[in-house]
Amino acid sequence: MAIGTKIISIDFETADKVITNDDLTKILDTSDEWIVTRTGIKKRRIIEGNTTSVDLGISAAKKAVKRCNFNPLDIDLIISACSAPEDIYPSTACLIQKALGAKNSACFDLRAACAGFIYSLNTANAFIKSGIYKNILIVATDCTTKFTDWNDRSSCVLFGDGAGAAIVTASNDDDIIAIELMAEGDCADYITLKVQRDSCPLVQPTEKTSNGFINMKGRDVYKYVMMKIPNKIEELLAKTNTKKEDIDYFIPHQSNQRMIEALAQRLEFDEDKVISNIENYGNMSAASILAALREGVDSGKIKLPAKFVLSAFGAGMTSANAIIKLDKI
Ligand code: ACO
Repeated sequence: MAIGTKIISIDFETADKVITNDDLTKILDTSDEWIVTRTGIKKRRIIEGNTTSVDLGISAAKKAVKRCNFNPLDIDLIISACSAPEDIYPSTACLIQKALGAKNSACFDLRAACAGFIYSLNTANAFIKSGIYKNILIVATDCTTKFTDWNDRSSCVLFGDGAGAAIVTASNDDDIIAIELMAEGDCADYITLKVQRDSCPLVQPTEKTSNGFINMKGRDVYKYVMMKIPNKIEELLAKTNTKKEDIDYFIPHQSNQRMIEALAQRLEFDEDKVISNIENYGNMSAASILAALREGVDSGKIKLPAKFVLSAFGAGMTSANAIIKLDKI
């Protein structure tokens, strides 16, 4: 029998500190009205002090492991979708491995910005279906607010910190109906986060071009997503003979409520099928879809078993769409 990939547990973690739009008016020339109208975001969670994306990732991973009573020693691979890691190395995945005691696992980070969870799911799916690994932990974690230019009001109001984790295992059943990954390096300058560096004092110095913060062409990102993503989702539905009425829920990357609504409208998904929690968290990078899934199930808005279209996009520009089913997470 062919090997299938089953998603058996999903959980998430956020920072404790809640920062509202009104709080932001103390440091920025902005307003709750502007932020809510343009983005749908009312508040976000922001890490403090020495807390890191690794800490949030570990917490999300521990919750996911506990939820399905999984033995960390049975994890064969940890993929961390961490795009702005605390350190360039060691990998975030290795630090999560240590905290879990998952010492039989291989570990690597996968950087595909906000599309990182679906990129990781596709990677895990390939490892499982090829028979190489059986049990894979995916941890999407980013503390974007540490890399945000707090003087740039058009980008800093968008982000929040969070981590999401998923455990996928080899099974007779298959939750992955289809995944398609895309990337367009021609649009690499739409969202950048350049690392500061310096060369050896004996050679020509490296030109300083970065302040070490996120730089985003918000309008270009918006237009790019609206132009590219709906067609790609339509193609994936057609390729898999999936009718829109068979999709129970649409969960797009939580980047901007206006974008979420415009995508849903373009794809003709009814409002009650669209899952969004951006209002409370802002854009938590690749953790967004996992958090929306977990909260949707916990709040009763999502009723399982169900079929989903997931869609994510981010710096690169990377993007990814998936059609999956879930029985119990
Ligand atoms: N408060 C008040 N005014 C503001 C703010 C703010 N926070 N931010 C911008 N403005 C002003 C601008 O200065 C501008 O003023 P002007 O007309 O006097 O020059 C005006 O509002 C309009 O600015 P725009 O940038 O054109 O506003 P827009 O309607 O495009 O909204 C936004 C900006 C919200 C960023 C939108 O473009 C967007 O959401 N884009 C997509 C972003 C996204 O999805 N990014 C994905 C990141 S994922 C990753 O990989 C990290």
